Amino acid sequence: MRTATARAHPNIALVKYWGKRDEELILPAAGSLSLTLDGFATTTTVSLDPSAAEDRFTLNGAAASPTQSERVTRFVDLVRSRAGSSSPAVVRSRNEAPTGAGLASSASGFAALAVAAATAYGLDLDRADLSRLARRGSGSATRSLVDGLSIWHAGDDAASFAEPIDGPAMSMVIVTVDAAEKAVSSREAMRRTAATSPYYAGWVDSTAHSLREMTTACRAGDFTRVGEITELNALRMHAAIEACEPSIRYLRAGSVAVFDAVEQLRADGIEAYATADAGPNVVVISRPADAAAVAERLGGLGAVRVVGAGPGARLIPEEDCA
Ligand code: PMV
Repeated sequence: MRTATARAHPNIALVKYWGKRDEELILPAAGSLSLTLDGFATTTTVSLDPSAAEDRFTLNGAAASPTQSERVTRFVDLVRSRAGSSSPAVVRSRNEAPTGAGLASSASGFAALAVAAATAYGLDLDRADLSRLARRGSGSATRSLVDGLSIWHAGDDAASFAEPIDGPAMSMVIVTVDAAEKAVSSREAMRRTAATSPYYAGWVDSTAHSLREMTTACRAGDFTRVGEITELNALRMHAAIEACEPSIRYLRAGSVAVFDAVEQLRADGIEAYATADAGPNVVVISRPADAAAVAERLGGLGAVRVVGAGPGARLIPEEDCA
């Protein structure tokens, strides 16, 4: 039985991906830039099982929901068709982060699955091709193939992968204000934003511009500018999302309290900047030397965890993911 185990970490975007120009190939409307984290790992084992009738997918030891299983099978179908195989697979996955709470578990999930499935089915793919493959599972997974700071290029299928980019050292303080599953998936919310938000076109244009500015700031090691662009880009994304019909609000009162506290931190001379994905939880970036102070100040607003830059998805020796 051919089997492979891979581990991947989520990434948090400093310039967000929000909107597709191709739903089938998952090509983004604009490029994005993120930091791959050193916490909240997903570990996934893929084992070929030619005698099985269909794929089996377990998540944290329990059978996954039909929706989750379907998404995994659709992804493994892509790998099977490239490998010329018809063998079903057993996929066992373990997630350290709460699934669906805006902590990008789909990014680590599909990055780990891409590496484990490609290997188990015998595909010989380089990092860019693995990144392109992961993209087909979930857009943000494209960036989790890369260590640390990662830039995902917009473009056609061949050009749309992620690569490393240099930048200032930073820590991320994750403030979990609510670990419940989000009400509207990012996939559906992206569609609705593109279809109904009057600010969508402005969002896409401004993001392309922010990405150019962010690239310059990263290369210059300019933490302040990186932070300013990060917070502005997140607020612009949420403004575009809130303006769709029917409206979607991911930021809750607890999230806004963290943004307020971060503003106060800056007023007090500690440089910190907030961002949030498709959920209520807030991620605060700071210089590594300030992370403990930031975490202490935000501790009353949710569960806090300090993380730094982590590795891109990779194979690891087999271990029990059951
Ligand atoms: O990969 P998806 O479809 O879950 O989209 C993720 C979108 C955000 O996390 C909100 C932004 C980003 O760039 O990661």
